[in-house]
Amino acid sequence: MTTVTATATSLSWDEGAVVTIDQRALPHEIRELRLTDVDAVIAAIESLAVRGAPAIGLAGALGVALSARLHSGPDGVDRAAVHADAERLIAARPTAVNLEWAVRRTLTRLDEGAQAVLAEATAMLAEDATLNAAAVERAADLVDSLTPDRPLRLLTHCNTGRLATGAVGTALGTILHLAGRGRVREVLVDETRPLLQGARLTAWELGEAGVPYRLCVDSAAAGAMAHGLVDCVLVGADRIAANGDTANKIGTYGLAVAAARHGIPFVVVAPESTWDSSLADGSGIVIEERAAAEVTHLADRVCAPQDARAYNPAFDVTPAELITAIVTERRVFRPRRGVPQQLTAGVADDR
Ligand code: MRU
Repeated sequence: MTTVTATATSLSWDEGAVVTIDQRALPHEIRELRLTDVDAVIAAIESLAVRGAPAIGLAGALGVALSARLHSGPDGVDRAAVHADAERLIAARPTAVNLEWAVRRTLTRLDEGAQAVLAEATAMLAEDATLNAAAVERAADLVDSLTPDRPLRLLTHCNTGRLATGAVGTALGTILHLAGRGRVREVLVDETRPLLQGARLTAWELGEAGVPYRLCVDSAAAGAMAHGLVDCVLVGADRIAANGDTANKIGTYGLAVAAARHGIPFVVVAPESTWDSSLADGSGIVIEERAAAEVTHLADRVCAPQDARAYNPAFDVTPAELITAIVTERRVFRPRRGVPQQLTAGVADDR
């Protein structure tokens, strides 16, 4: 068995500060951020210094703890002030349901005081490690059963590793787990335009763990599938409706269409907290629209005409019928019946 190491988690609490890695600076610099007020936590979530659905949930929970601490006095906690901060935290990004879920869960301890709120938030951090481990193990078993018995070529999108969670991650955690079992030949990493979470973050995490990977532009993914270079697609999720429709990073839907076309298993790995059972299907999921400059600029350099307008949704919704399985810490949900259990494509060539 190969040893694949996942290093320190990317979020913690340290004496009145939320401590995190500034994901905007990666992979050039490992810059630590110490967030000491709620505005700083909100700014970190909005700017994607902290990103990934579980991670922004945990940051939101720690933000509530920060608020409760800062609004504590001799007469106890100023509940109205903390609730106002909580609503601002929830509004920082609209698509990932984990943010609202985590903030509201932390608020349930507010009557017991700031220390109890902090205990809830830090318990959630610890829980994430257990949840990740359970989901990853189950997802790895599923991928094992769905794919040919040879070292696999996996494709992933965006970043779903330790940077995006409180522990080893979801889809990327599964890939690392499979690598630990000696099951991974290569990971194709979509660069994930426009903010390059794949190129900057997933590639960094895979390199750190010593797992072989190649980067590709997002638009190369369908062709890679056609050429037999992909045995399974693994992605995370930001919000999953009751029927399994799944919101995830923009481009995920196209990957699912291409995977279905080529009979390739398409597996979503996410914690149970990513389900939003209040929504019957994905049509009600609010998709965050981000600034045009993310599309019209490349690393602060203009790459489009000055007056170019942009369409920049941060996420899309993959219909449940295109998804082979959604794996959580508790279950394997199979929205698509009759999915091919084995690849229809032949053994991948060496390109
Ligand atoms: O905009 P981002 O980088 O926060 O988007 C993240 C994703 O789409 C991830 O795939 C998702 O949050 C799951 S992270 C385990």
